Amino acid sequence: MLAIAVLAAGKGTRMKSALPKVLQPLAGATLVERVLSSARTLAPERRLLIVGHQADRVEAQLQHIPGLEFVLQQPQNGTGHAVQQLLPALEGFEGELLVLNGDVPLLRSETIEAMVSRHRSSGANVTLLTARLNDPTGYGRVFTNDRGEVESIIEHRDCSDQQRSNNLTNAGIYCFNWSALADVLPKLSTDNDQGELYLTDTVAMLEKAMHVEVADPDEVNGINNRMQLAQCEAVLQQRLRDHWMAEGVTFTDPFSCTLSEHCQIGRDVVIEPQTHLRGDCRIGDNCRLGPGCLIEDAELGTGVTAVHSVIREARVGDGVAIGPFAHLRPAADVGDGCRIGNFVEVKKSQLGPGSKVNHLSYIGDASLGENVNVGAGTITANYDGVNKHLTVIGSNSKTGANSVLVAPVNVGSNVTIGAGSTITKDVPDDALAIGRAKQLMKDGWNKRG
Ligand code: UD1
Ligand code: MG
Repeated sequence: MLAIAVLAAGKGTRMKSALPKVLQPLAGATLVERVLSSARTLAPERRLLIVGHQADRVEAQLQHIPGLEFVLQQPQNGTGHAVQQLLPALEGFEGELLVLNGDVPLLRSETIEAMVSRHRSSGANVTLLTARLNDPTGYGRVFTNDRGEVESIIEHRDCSDQQRSNNLTNAGIYCFNWSALADVLPKLSTDNDQGELYLTDTVAMLEKAMHVEVADPDEVNGINNRMQLAQCEAVLQQRLRDHWMAEGVTFTDPFSCTLSEHCQIGRDVVIEPQTHLRGDCRIGDNCRLGPGCLIEDAELGTGVTAVHSVIREARVGDGVAIGPFAHLRPAADVGDGCRIGNFVEVKKSQLGPGSKVNHLSYIGDASLGENVNVGAGTITANYDGVNKHLTVIGSNSKTGANSVLVAPVNVGSNVTIGAGSTITKDVPDDALAIGRAKQLMKDGWNKRG
């Protein structure tokens, strides 16, 4: 039997943030979500999350995870104190307890699996993950005997200068035999620089303690400050780009682009410099995105091109060309083969296939049929100061340059609207509508004596 406990009660003082540390986002997922998902493949019998600082907020964020048990640690008196809180919840539990620090988000599940299976075959009471770091500053140092067994872990701040020169560090990931740990947990003391109960002190109290060194030290990066957060973001971004390149995506300047964990990207997509995919994005095959696009929670069909544009919570059909400098806002639904050109904003509107909005327009709360041509500078005036109203334009209609369609208004199909019109009344199919002041001419005006 395996139980997993994630330590997530700390404040994260060194982050200097109003957000609890474990809720800091990293490539589209919070630290604690990443830690939990790194252990998913182990299929544990129990999953416990130790919460404390802003516990309500952390619990609310993780409500969606089925079977997750929340254990409260109040006050937060160190990692050993955190694990002591499991004693009632795990009373009578037989098996191993895998403890994961909530601020170590880059671990691969294969690494944890290997550690657990080494633990099971070695007969140790605890096996922990270690790394040799070029710069071990801040990490607990792991001291071993000549048989390679762990004798003690000493926190950086409690180490002598000589002890600090040991670069074998504790990753904060441990597999314990629960009953052995439960026996020593009550014996922890606060005899250290921080006056806290350290989980790491249990290691010296347990009969046999082993360690497994990770091959890739990046995996055990702990996040205690914003510099480390930025380093981990860089590692994750590199992993995501490598993954998608292996799946057939081209990046012309990979380091200038960022991706989220939840993106799906098709084959032969080309991502040009300074392009960022955030949230839940689905990108079809053969798209060309960038330079300079921000795409968030959006779905793009195949063969879409977008240049210097922002696309958020929108759906875009196949073969659509977007930009430069277009803004697709929530609930924009752009049909196949449409064209959204320069300085065009589209919000909560459906555009039928083949429609074109090429220049300087605002289309909001509108429904356009097929092959509508929206002239330069056309605006749907959707807001009367209190409510939003709908504009409908039928298929094959054209609006002249600088038209204003004052909603609610219904323009039929195959309609032509004269340039500069302000349309306030519905227009029937096949009509020409002109709504503007007549041009006045004063002959010889400039020749007056
Ligand atoms: C800890 C280890 C250190 C290791 C490092 C790896 C101890 C004493 N030290 O140090 O050996 O090298 O992780 O990253 O364990 N937490 C609680 N309750 C508390 C205090 C902390 O749940 O009372 C949680 C935090 O939210 C965090 C985790 O435990 O997720 C680790 O705490 P942190 O204060 O970051 O420990 P480190 O100083 O990094
Ligand atoms: Mg830490």
